[in-house]
Amino acid sequence: MTIKIGPAAAFLLGVLGVAAGCALNETDDATEGEGESQIRELERRAVGPARAYPAERYTDADAEIYAKSKKARRELGWHVLAKALQPVKIAAQPETSARPAPTAPVAERTIPLFRTWFGGDEIDRMFAKMYGDLGKDRRLARDVPTEREVNALFEWNAKSLGPNSESEYFARLAQITNQQGVDGLGGNGRVAYSPGYVKQYLTDYPTIASCKLDELTVDSLPKSEETNFTNCFSREFDADAAVIKASWRRNDALVTGGLPAIDTSAPTLATRMTGELDSGGWNLRGVPLKKAGPEDAYSVTLSDETGYSLVGLHVMTKELRHWVWVTVWWSDKPDEDFGQDRPDEIKALGAPWSNYKMCVITDFEEKDQDPRGGFEGSLGDALAAVHGKATWCSNGFIEKGAHNAQTNCIGCHQHAGDVKALDRVLTDETAFPASGRLQNRKGFPADYSWAFATPASPDQKDRLYDVVVNRMKVYARDDIQ
Ligand code: HEC
Repeated sequence: MTIKIGPAAAFLLGVLGVAAGCALNETDDATEGEGESQIRELERRAVGPARAYPAERYTDADAEIYAKSKKARRELGWHVLAKALQPVKIAAQPETSARPAPTAPVAERTIPLFRTWFGGDEIDRMFAKMYGDLGKDRRLARDVPTEREVNALFEWNAKSLGPNSESEYFARLAQITNQQGVDGLGGNGRVAYSPGYVKQYLTDYPTIASCKLDELTVDSLPKSEETNFTNCFSREFDADAAVIKASWRRNDALVTGGLPAIDTSAPTLATRMTGELDSGGWNLRGVPLKKAGPEDAYSVTLSDETGYSLVGLHVMTKELRHWVWVTVWWSDKPDEDFGQDRPDEIKALGAPWSNYKMCVITDFEEKDQDPRGGFEGSLGDALAAVHGKATWCSNGFIEKGAHNAQTNCIGCHQHAGDVKALDRVLTDETAFPASGRLQNRKGFPADYSWAFATPASPDQKDRLYDVVVNRMKVYARDDIQ
């Protein structure tokens, strides 16, 4: 039988790409959203293969150091960010395009490393091809692809034009006139996955498919607390598994306002922590807008000439067993509070990246006894404002709903896969104290990644359990006959 691999569901998500999962049930301003969603075949070929996240392997002793020192933790956070942002050369360099050779030397085209990562629709395409190519016997034996087959699949994905023609590819490249055009090749998708992350779904599909999502509760015991604290995988992710979630705002000549300048100074944060302000949530309405160009905020121009700027970016990496949780947000006062300690490693990346503030956590509990974490100035003030028994890290551009300015990533993500817990984590203070920030369970069903299955995701392609199970169903009947 033949399997049609559907074209990327680009363009369709414009209206949907707003109320992301951290949002439990709020919508957002109309200026936020997606024009082109995830990376399409044309752009993938121009970008080239997804690059591995350069993971470092940290020990349990390191984890303890990060848990006990806000300073060490923040250095780690900036370093993780620097690795995700490092410029990498894309496949379509100027001389490879159809245009005549330029006379003057042309600068290399680069994009930040994480911009090469896979979108959910690419995982769908690759899983479909992988599963089809296994053939009936290997499918029935629940055989998994070898390392070599996985690499070949990644290469196939990087070159395949899908339903597009060569001339469309060159026409797309000819649209690029500046750096925002180059960066626009990476689209403006919401969630993207490192190759190390995707490998897990390709090679562990039999266990993924056998996961009984409906039976999960906060009391479900994991496969093994010591070696595999998940319920839905046969092993935890490798250290090079990394995922990003981005928030983009339309920001081009047609946009009159600008980007929201969220206040994360100590006095305002303190009133969010007590719940006096916005019921402990973030509220973008009424936040002042500031004009910002590509020098101020990382910006992309898409194939339809619309422009978007990155205002918020979550990065989670499995470099620690319970992940490193980093988030950055755009600011018009970038050197204050959470931007005060920006290291040279970030400054060296060039203009826009010095306009983002950062918070990071690696544990549920705050184990640094010093509220200020040893920092002077407005950073020390801000850290003290959110200091408590549980850690704190929250992004005003991404986290939506009451109490969601009081959160810490890991507390909510511990339930990933267990959708019933998600509904209550921010609202049931008895079952999930401290706005859900503390550890509530022994097992982490989907290794902290909500992309496994969540009702809150606006994009079906980011429900990776379904990607696997639905594809397997396509073949199931024919394979038995
Ligand atoms: C109240 C719950 C909640 C909080 C708090 C939260 N998230 Fe999420 N997050 C979700 C849900 C649900 C999804 C899936 C839906 C989606 O993609 O938007 C998600 C998606 C993500 C993703 C991509 C998909 C994946 O594999 O999970 C990343 C990366 C992420 N969050 C990082 C973070 C970081 C970093 C923080 C803290 C700064 C954070 N999240 C805080 C609930 C939360």
